[in-house]
Amino acid sequence: MKVSIIGSGYVGLVSGVCLAKLGHKVTIVDIDEDKIDMIGKGMSPIYEQGLDELLAQVHIEITSDYRKISNSDIILLCVSTPLSEEGDISLQQVTKATEQTTEALKGKRKYWVVAMRSTLPPGTTEEVIIPILERTGKKLGRDFGVCVSPEFLREGRAIHDFMNPDRLIVGESDKKAGSMLLNLYSSFDVPILRTTIKTAEMIKLASNTFLATKICFINEIGNICKQLGIDSYVVAKGMGFDKRIGSEFLNTGIGFGGSCLPKDLKILIVKAKKMGYEAKLLQEVADRNEKQALRVVELLKNHTPLKGAVIGLLGLAFKPGTDDARGSQAIRIVHTLLSEGAKVRAYDPAAMENFKKLFPQIDYVSKEEVLNCNAIIIATEWEEFKDLDYRGKVVIDGRRILKAKEARVYEGVCW
Ligand code: UGA
Repeated sequence: MKVSIIGSGYVGLVSGVCLAKLGHKVTIVDIDEDKIDMIGKGMSPIYEQGLDELLAQVHIEITSDYRKISNSDIILLCVSTPLSEEGDISLQQVTKATEQTTEALKGKRKYWVVAMRSTLPPGTTEEVIIPILERTGKKLGRDFGVCVSPEFLREGRAIHDFMNPDRLIVGESDKKAGSMLLNLYSSFDVPILRTTIKTAEMIKLASNTFLATKICFINEIGNICKQLGIDSYVVAKGMGFDKRIGSEFLNTGIGFGGSCLPKDLKILIVKAKKMGYEAKLLQEVADRNEKQALRVVELLKNHTPLKGAVIGLLGLAFKPGTDDARGSQAIRIVHTLLSEGAKVRAYDPAAMENFKKLFPQIDYVSKEEVLNCNAIIIATEWEEFKDLDYRGKVVIDGRRILKAKEARVYEGVCW
């Protein structure tokens, strides 16, 4: 099929190369000329396992010219939906992209489908996107269809997740639209749920906020375990055998970060509030997660005064396998360390450049130099941290690097 993808960020680029790999003809449109240039040369602007290799294998067209989408059967909208300063979702980019898409398709005769892959508050596609798509006189159901095709791609594992989905969720304006979108994914033999547009938007948010809640829950158990001298990882293992619970997302530590789980909590809390419902559980998950990061700092204070101390930080990315520091719990840790008068020397194998934009004032050093600090906090569970020599050090471990137990002083956040 002929597919156009609007937005070459995480979701857009990964979806684009994977769909090209599956044999579709893919055109990606972006407004960022630097990104277009890089992708055009076969280089990925983001750090994602397997992406460079796949980019080298497939042919995709990348352009800033929206007119190139006019031959497409399906247009996937994959632009980002960041939070505004007021803490609500900003639809600016997605509405602009929809407007440009509408304009580019105004002369199109053959039926087409616009599928939303950006995460949106339930109701947005019907209330905001479809009215824009109908502005040029084209009619939903007659000239075109609309779908919501949520993505469940984890950063660092995004290509694997695209190629091996657990399920396909298709929110459809009508059967014709949904069937056309499903043709795109016909090589996947997985459960398919066809539903309304609004429901599909909610499934995405409910999935991510459930994962956030699951992590928050196990951290609560972990904090109690710590007081009782119980290893929360053994507790989680014992719980995980129960199929109703499942073993994934039960790793205790300093909590969740990233650009999705924290944001999606916020989106749903704000949406509920606008409807007059106070989503107290979700708010509590968000609040507790903020506090969870700071538990490592509290534990550290039991061993060393922070004022004037030089604290080493291992890990800045919000999780291993990515250079992404957005929403990283390391941000909260660094803020607190600095405000308590400590100096920070940090190392991360991939995310130092991105972190520097947030904290130019701290030192970015090698992992060996981090190990020379008065005390060390582990904030991301990179594989390479399992090979370091922690002997003689003070280590507060937020991510379960058991090798660090050989330290002179070792404390795990929930174990
Ligand atoms: C998340 C979802 O997992 C994807 O399904 C979804 O598609 C994506 O958001 C999105 O909305 O685009 P991602 O943000 O890449 O993916 O990260 P996760 O792998 O979910 O991890 C999020 C955070 O939770 C990380 O900081 C990780 O360290 C933390 N985490 C994860 C834990 O603290 N404990 C766990 O057991 C698992």
